[in-house]
Amino acid sequence: MNQKIRSCFSRWCPDRAAALLAAGLLLGLAGCGPAGKGTDTIRVGVALYTQDDTFISTIQQDMERLVRQRENEQQLKINLSTADGRSNQTTQLEQVDRFLSQGCDVLCVNIVDRTAAAVIVDKAQEAGVPLIFFNRQPVAEDIRRADNIYYVGAQAEEAGRLQGQLVLQAWQTQREQLDRNGDGVLQYVMLEGEPGHQDALLRTEYSVKALTSAGVEVEKLASDTANWNRAQGTAKTAQWIGQFGEQIEVVFSNNDDMALGAIDAFQEAQLELPLVVGVDATAPALEAIRQGELYGTVLNDAEGIAEAMVDLALALTRGENPAQTLEMDEGHYIWLPCQQITLQDLEENQNG
Ligand code: BGC
Ligand code: CA
Repeated sequence: MNQKIRSCFSRWCPDRAAALLAAGLLLGLAGCGPAGKGTDTIRVGVALYTQDDTFISTIQQDMERLVRQRENEQQLKINLSTADGRSNQTTQLEQVDRFLSQGCDVLCVNIVDRTAAAVIVDKAQEAGVPLIFFNRQPVAEDIRRADNIYYVGAQAEEAGRLQGQLVLQAWQTQREQLDRNGDGVLQYVMLEGEPGHQDALLRTEYSVKALTSAGVEVEKLASDTANWNRAQGTAKTAQWIGQFGEQIEVVFSNNDDMALGAIDAFQEAQLELPLVVGVDATAPALEAIRQGELYGTVLNDAEGIAEAMVDLALALTRGENPAQTLEMDEGHYIWLPCQQITLQDLEENQNG
C-alpha cells in the first residue's frame, strides 16, 4: 500500500493524490486513523444485528454506562461507536469494513447471520484487530481460527433447561391448577426465536427435555417462530387461542418479549392466563412477574455480557492475556451464568 502511494506520487497522478489526501483528512477528522493507536484513546467498534431488539439495546446501554465508569476509574478515553445492522448481513459487513478502516482497536460483533462469521474473521485477521462475537454464536470452527477471537454470551442449553425446570416445579407443586383438563399431560405451545439462532434451537429443545427427562408427559399443541418479537408473539398466540383456546396449559417462549406478546393475546381474548415463561429478565418482564402475569423467566445477563466485553476489550488493547483476569473457557469463550427468576425470587431480593 505504502509503495503504491509512493509510486503514484512519483508519477504524479492528481486524481488519486487528491482522493488519498481527502481520505486521510476524513480519517483525521473522524479521529479514527491508525495514528490514534498508542495514545490513551481506545477505539471500540460495536456492530449490532439490530438496535430494534429489547435485549440487544439493553446490552448497548449497559456497555455505554460501563465505558463511562471505566474511563473514570482508569483515567482513559474509550471511544465506543455502535452501528445498527438493521438485520441485514450486507449492511453489517459494510459497517465492519468501516470500523476496521477507521482503525478500531477491538471489534465487537453481534452477527446478523451466524453462518457469515468466517468473512468477518477474515477481515479482522487481515487488519490484525481482535474480534469479540457476542449473543449470536458462530460455530466453534470460526471462533478457534485465531487466538484473538472470542465469544461472550450465555449457554443456550442452560437457559432452556432452567426454563423447563421452572415449569417442572410448577407442575409438581400446582398440578391441579396447571393441568386444566386433568388428563395428567402437560399441553403446551412454544414461541420460538429467530430460525437458526442457537438460543431458539437449544432453548426449545432443552426446556421440554427438562420435563420429559423427569418423566412428565407433554403434548405439543403448536410451535412456531415469532422472531423474538412481542407483536409477532401476540399474533401467533392469538391464532393458537383460536385453535386451542383453554386447552393451552403452558406457553414456553424463547424470550421475554414474545412471552409478553402471548400475555397480551390472552388478555385481549379475555381468557384466563395459562402458565407463561420467558428468558432474559428484561425490565418489562420483571414487572409482569410482579403483576402475576408472567410466571417466571431466566436471567440472560445483559449487564454481565456488556461488562465482560468492555473488560476484555481493555485487556486486549493493553496487550494483556485476558485469561489471567477474566474467566475464560478454552481461551476463547466467556460464559455468563443464567438464573431462574419467579415472583418469590423478586420478593426475597426486595426483602434481603
Ligand atoms: C435473547 C433475545 C434476543 C436475541 C437476539 C437472545 O439471547 O434472549 O431476547 O432477541 O438474543 O440475538
Ligand atoms: Ca393437561
